[in-house]
Amino acid sequence: MIKGKLITFEGIDGSGKSTQIKKLESRLKKLKINYITYREPGGTSLSEKIRQILLDKENMELSYISEGLLFAAARAQLVKEKIRPDLDSGKVVICDRFIDSTIAYQGYGRELDVQKLVSINEIATEGLIPDITFLLDIKPENAFKRIDSTEIDRMESVGIKFFKKIRKGYFQIIKDSPERFFLINADQSELLIENEINEIIDEVIK
Ligand SMILES: Nc1ncnc2c1ncn2[C@@H]1O[C@H](COP(=O)(O)OP(=O)(O)O)[C@@H](O)[C@H]1O
Ligand SMILES: [Mg+2]
Repeated sequence: MIKGKLITFEGIDGSGKSTQIKKLESRLKKLKINYITYREPGGTSLSEKIRQILLDKENMELSYISEGLLFAAARAQLVKEKIRPDLDSGKVVICDRFIDSTIAYQGYGRELDVQKLVSINEIATEGLIPDITFLLDIKPENAFKRIDSTEIDRMESVGIKFFKKIRKGYFQIIKDSPERFFLINADQSELLIENEINEIIDEVIK
């Protein structure tokens, strides 16, 4: 049995993850490669319900710890119900955010204990680690210019300073496990980014 591949996209809001995932999907479709895409938090009916709690601007009393645990719970359901079975059936699984988002946002951003978050998430994913992770890197100032202010939700309303911490956090995560990461300069044209990603994908898929 061919084992599938788990490909995750990381980066701050506005870095271009959704844009590049759409391009990758149409390329895989053309190549007749069996793939499926999930966005985090979400992907199962339970996980989507958790997503609503996390993104609701009115839930201001949600503690950082609850936030971290809810992300982990959503991820646990997604892995068990979907990603594991998909990988076992040989699919390429694309994830719009995964464990590194928790470490970057809740760990380095909210300053929760990174090692404990890693442990919680190892439990949640039953040890599943992405085969490759694209980090779309861009300065928060430049990413924010791309985001429509009406779309700014609870997570984005906290500002540039928070996202600078997250960007630094992502760099630290890469230092800690460099093998699976591809650092992409996300502050270039969509086409240049797409080409870089395609070259790497070709190596991994073949
Ligand atoms: N390379 C790029 N250069 C300029 N604008 C971009 C680029 N990639 C994406 N965008 C635009 O920036 C906004 C955020 O992109 P999106 O893919 O939704 O980011 P994310 O999913 O990481 O939040 C969108 O309006 C998108 O069209
Ligand atoms: Mg997106």
